[in-house]
Amino acid sequence: MRVTFTVNGRPTEADDVWEGESLLYVLRERVGLPGSKNACEQGECGSCTVYLDGAPVCACLVAAGQVQDRAVGTVEGLADGDTLDPVQQAFVDAGAVQCGFCTPGLLVQTHDLLNRAHHPSDAEIREALSGNLCRCTGYEKIMDAVRLAAARKADARGTAPAGSEG
Ligand code: FES
Ligand code: FES
Repeated sequence: MRVTFTVNGRPTEADDVWEGESLLYVLRERVGLPGSKNACEQGECGSCTVYLDGAPVCACLVAAGQVQDRAVGTVEGLADGDTLDPVQQAFVDAGAVQCGFCTPGLLVQTHDLLNRAHHPSDAEIREALSGNLCRCTGYEKIMDAVRLAAARKADARGTAPAGSEG
């Protein structure tokens, strides 16, 4: 079957899609977007997290046919040309990337969190990222990265929380 949808705002068609094929497979193998990673293929690790109509989902659990006429956003769509999204830059600057396998999913999930919560508490960050597993970092650098991204985005908006200045 043919599946027609948008990816990162771009109209996209995938042909010869098998009914049981996952969105993750379509993204990686049919439309040339391998940023979303396949680590468990059963919804356990979050490395395949993408936006579907603006909500984060595990692409390995979404059947390709479900995305017909819908909007998918992947980690490749976060950057603006050569300029990284603040979340991506914070992960780099905080040293939150080791093997990098979990990173695309964490970036999408963090991007969503910071769209919803401008000043998330540590508990809110942990809750938001609870479905994203990392085997390398011990999570502390990831927490640092999310806090850094939140602070930079607040600075950019001029909405740093009271008492956080200098
Ligand atoms: S590959 Fe989708 S949740 Fe692990
Ligand atoms: S950096 Fe290796 S799994 Fe997270």
